[in-house]
Amino acid sequence: MDLQGDDLTEAVVASFDGSESDRYKTVMSALVRHLHAFAREVELTEDEYFTAIDFLTRTGQISTGTRQEFVLLADVLGLSMLTVGLGNRKPPEATQSTVFGPFFVEGSPEAQLGDDIANGAPGQPCLVSGKVLNTKGEPIAGALVETWQADEDGFYDVQKDLDGPQNRAHLATDAEGNYRFWAVKPVAYPIPDDGPVGELLRAGGRGPMRPAHIHFMVTAPGYSRLITHVFAAGDEYLDTDAVFGVKQSLIADFTEHQDDDKTYYSVEYDLVLATTEETQQ
Ligand code: BEZ
Ligand code: FE
Repeated sequence: MDLQGDDLTEAVVASFDGSESDRYKTVMSALVRHLHAFAREVELTEDEYFTAIDFLTRTGQISTGTRQEFVLLADVLGLSMLTVGLGNRKPPEATQSTVFGPFFVEGSPEAQLGDDIANGAPGQPCLVSGKVLNTKGEPIAGALVETWQADEDGFYDVQKDLDGPQNRAHLATDAEGNYRFWAVKPVAYPIPDDGPVGELLRAGGRGPMRPAHIHFMVTAPGYSRLITHVFAAGDEYLDTDAVFGVKQSLIADFTEHQDDDKTYYSVEYDLVLATTEETQQ
């Protein structure tokens, strides 16, 4: 059988007719149709095809448990943020979600309200506080707040050779829904760009920078998990985030304070959870 053009595409789509689930068939059929349409649209050459295969091979080869190059690729192509948008349709009162990123680590240290979680990380001290609320503005007591962020040099603890975690912890909100901890003032930093994703960015005339932010993941029974950041107002990279994660509602002021001869910062941001019923899947 000489399959060409649309006949080839339809034959590949039909090859999934016996799929183990309807969803699998739907996803694979659409994937094949879009891949073929893409190759036709750009008139993909064989050289380009082999370059792409080599790129994906190297993306796999550089990946480890802590270096997630495929996640990074999805991030810089905007696929992560597209999926975040599709998966988190919730009321406007709820805090918007953004990209998870590759630097979350299971099993962070437990902190008490007001603890310093910087654990010696370089940077200006920063008091981070707020409430976890529901969409009616009522406090959620006992919500689990996970937080992680980079230091003043733009590195997460997992990117450094350290004995213990820095700027990373989980804590529970009190009866009024408060969370509060000391960390360091976040700075803008480049996503890892010494691998295939870095090549892609440079070839596209793009930069690797992310605007300064603090990561949060908040969970509470009956509520949808919130994965988000709080971004620092005034950061020069807010409009050119390498992973397209910025949302206006997630930008907050980091206020400078002078205490005798010491400088510190503070930021206050309420995290509003939607119930599972309020979240459309
Ligand atoms: C981050 O914010 O930690 C991050 C997100 C996406 C790609 C790289 C880093
Ligand atoms: Fe980050």
